[in-house]
Amino acid sequence: MTVKIAPSILSADFARLGDEVRAIDEAGCDWVHIDVMDGHFVPNLTFGPAIIKAIRPYTTKVFDVHLMIDPAQPYIEDYAKAGADIIVVHAEADKHLDRSLQLIRSLGKKAGVSLNPSTPETVLEYVMDKLDLVLVMSVNPGFGGQSFIEAQLEKIARIKRMIGHRMIDLEVDGGVTADNAHRVVAAGANVLVAGSAVFKTKDYAANIAALRR
Ligand code: DX5
Ligand code: ZN
Repeated sequence: MTVKIAPSILSADFARLGDEVRAIDEAGCDWVHIDVMDGHFVPNLTFGPAIIKAIRPYTTKVFDVHLMIDPAQPYIEDYAKAGADIIVVHAEADKHLDRSLQLIRSLGKKAGVSLNPSTPETVLEYVMDKLDLVLVMSVNPGFGGQSFIEAQLEKIARIKRMIGHRMIDLEVDGGVTADNAHRVVAAGANVLVAGSAVFKTKDYAANIAALRR
């Protein structure tokens, strides 16, 4: 299976966000990972729908929108309209995960669920058929540049088994580097999110290539 690289624009230069999105596109990224934070579910604040709408014209690549907000449900339609292709909600947010997933698909978008490091994969058991993607957080969400939590490798492998032959992407987010990417993929991931590992130096193409190797 080919591995997709999804740079997180949380580590981009916010003063030049459109140009940064174009730059990672030209550097060969597969998806653009957009970390939406509300200062409530996570201790940080980032992008509203208007910002996503503003950067949408800078690339035709998939916008992978990771909602670290609680509640998420009231904002799902706004992010869909702003240009998200995949909308990922957290299993720990809201009260009705099944309903959120149905709403995302009813808007014609791909539906994802993200799990915090301490959340067991069993929360996925009864929504597997409503999912297009599972996002395993390998750091506690809120900030870029944290260290990969090794215990998540086992969770990735367990979720990979739960997915079986279903067409569900398994994405890993947080602390992914060129040094540990192979272990994350070996555990079963097919999409790697990387913020600092992509934006750490100007040569985004080389940084993305290093993650693929
Ligand atoms: C953390 C975000 C991640 C983060 C990854 O809350 O969900 O996407 O930006 O950044 P790195 O790759 O620097 O850990
Ligand atoms: Zn993320």
